[in-house]
Amino acid sequence: MNDKRTAAAGGDAGSPRHVSAARDADAASAAVVFGDAWRYAPAPEARDHVKIAPRYDLFIGGAWRAPASGRYLDSISPSTEEKLCEFAEASEQDVDLAVQAARTAYEKRWSRLRPLDRGKYIYRIARAIQEKARELAIVESLDGGKPIKESRDVDLPLAAAHFFYHAGWADKLEHAFPGRRPRPLGVAGQVIPWNFPLLMAAWKLAPALAAGNTCVLKPAETTPLTALLLAKIIEEADLPPGVVNVVTGAGATGAAVVGHPGVDKIAFTGSTEVGKRIQRALAGTGKRLTLELGGKAANIVFEDAPLDQAVEGIIRGIFFNQGHVCCAGSRLLVEESVHDALLHKLRERMATLRVGDPLDKNTDVGAINSRAQLEKIQDLVASGEREGAARFTPRCALPERGYWFAPTLFTGVAQSHRIAREEIFGPVLSVLTFRTPEEAIEKANNTMYGLSAGVWTAKGSKSFWVAQRLRAGVVWANTFNKFDPSAPFGGYKESGFGREGGRQGLLAYLEVD
Ligand code: NAI
Ligand code: MG
Repeated sequence: MNDKRTAAAGGDAGSPRHVSAARDADAASAAVVFGDAWRYAPAPEARDHVKIAPRYDLFIGGAWRAPASGRYLDSISPSTEEKLCEFAEASEQDVDLAVQAARTAYEKRWSRLRPLDRGKYIYRIARAIQEKARELAIVESLDGGKPIKESRDVDLPLAAAHFFYHAGWADKLEHAFPGRRPRPLGVAGQVIPWNFPLLMAAWKLAPALAAGNTCVLKPAETTPLTALLLAKIIEEADLPPGVVNVVTGAGATGAAVVGHPGVDKIAFTGSTEVGKRIQRALAGTGKRLTLELGGKAANIVFEDAPLDQAVEGIIRGIFFNQGHVCCAGSRLLVEESVHDALLHKLRERMATLRVGDPLDKNTDVGAINSRAQLEKIQDLVASGEREGAARFTPRCALPERGYWFAPTLFTGVAQSHRIAREEIFGPVLSVLTFRTPEEAIEKANNTMYGLSAGVWTAKGSKSFWVAQRLRAGVVWANTFNKFDPSAPFGGYKESGFGREGGRQGLLAYLEVD
């Protein structure tokens, strides 16, 4: 494990980790053998070209405005607990101004623009994201705690790709829905979470703008920075004032966006709890709604699967990004005959994961996004131990400051355990077994969620057979957590409704008859 910037036993509840790891003889030996073999010299990303202002105001009507209340919140770096900046807390009054600005921009400018010209603006945003990709990736890792490998190689390229993809649709909407008459909805209110701050902003803004809507975007309170830098990009791209407005703040600001009568459509990504509250608040208002909520994805490994490849997919699916992924493969379903072989490989691989400084290019697992999230993970892991599952956490020294949780695996998990049912949203994997494909499907579908799933098998026909029976919006075969803007993404059941990406994603921002 990564042993730079270490303390004896920081982060994750200290000693219980070591006690439970030591219980597992296999675990301890794997950690010793592999931990030492994978020591890397620190390779920190340079921060010198990154400019974070001490304070950010609200981006409303193309201008930066102080919040009516005069109140500001702090954004900190979860890897060091250092304060990065202050950002405005928008009240109902500020949200009202933003919605008015968006309405005026919709009626006077954006809906009157030739679709081709809308496309040019969106294309310009995409290019600017590419040009500033390095700075944006660093800020994303600083503000949110995710490893630079992820922000640089996944979040940034995908965010740009979403704008490029939707720039192309702007003047082709009639071809997306031939014989029908696609029209924009008006003003879209968009509330996004902290796990993919810039990418979720791109997922929301790009299709809305391409379809001809204007937007009021509310980033999460622990990760406002890249959305604010995106607002600067949008300003520099010279979009008509008010087409995109960014209002920062916490839950109350989100609720003000959701509840504003001048908003025609709400797009929300976040917790199932808040999603349900929003659905109740919007009932009967006529506002359109899409919800992308939690998940408890099953990664199903059959005995004929390429096990080494599966191990990489499992690791990517739950440990990279600290498990802060709604479609994370948080339940591993293994065919009994390969359970021991797969678990042996998995433990060995886990012992090589490097946890630490998100700005280090060697880091696999970064910081937990907030103290509240760390406490939620600790609580669920403690419940797993109490309910009788066997815990494995490789020996791992964690940095002294900041919020950290070492990659953790539970075997002997029953379907009734909380760790098998609830979204942990942390680097914690629950392993269950099955004997027949039918049993695998039944267990995979035995959840209130239905966002994603994975199937690992050498037989193409088997993966299709399984995929057809899984109640999940996305099913990956022999891979995991792969995205493309042309592929629609969204859930079943309590994972929400509506799709983002692809032709289907455009529908969420259009009236089509
Ligand atoms: P959250 O759902 O409270 O936050 C998501 C966004 O909604 C933030 O921008 C927040 O300010 C806003 N918000 C909060 N209350 C609101 C309200 N009443 N009306 C409108 N907007 C509101 O999620 P939180 O508390 O940060 O995380 C809790 C759990 O939710 C996590 O542990 C995880 O299990 C899950 N989660 C799922 C995500 C996903 O991508 N599906 C993303 C983030 C969290
Ligand atoms: Mg932060």
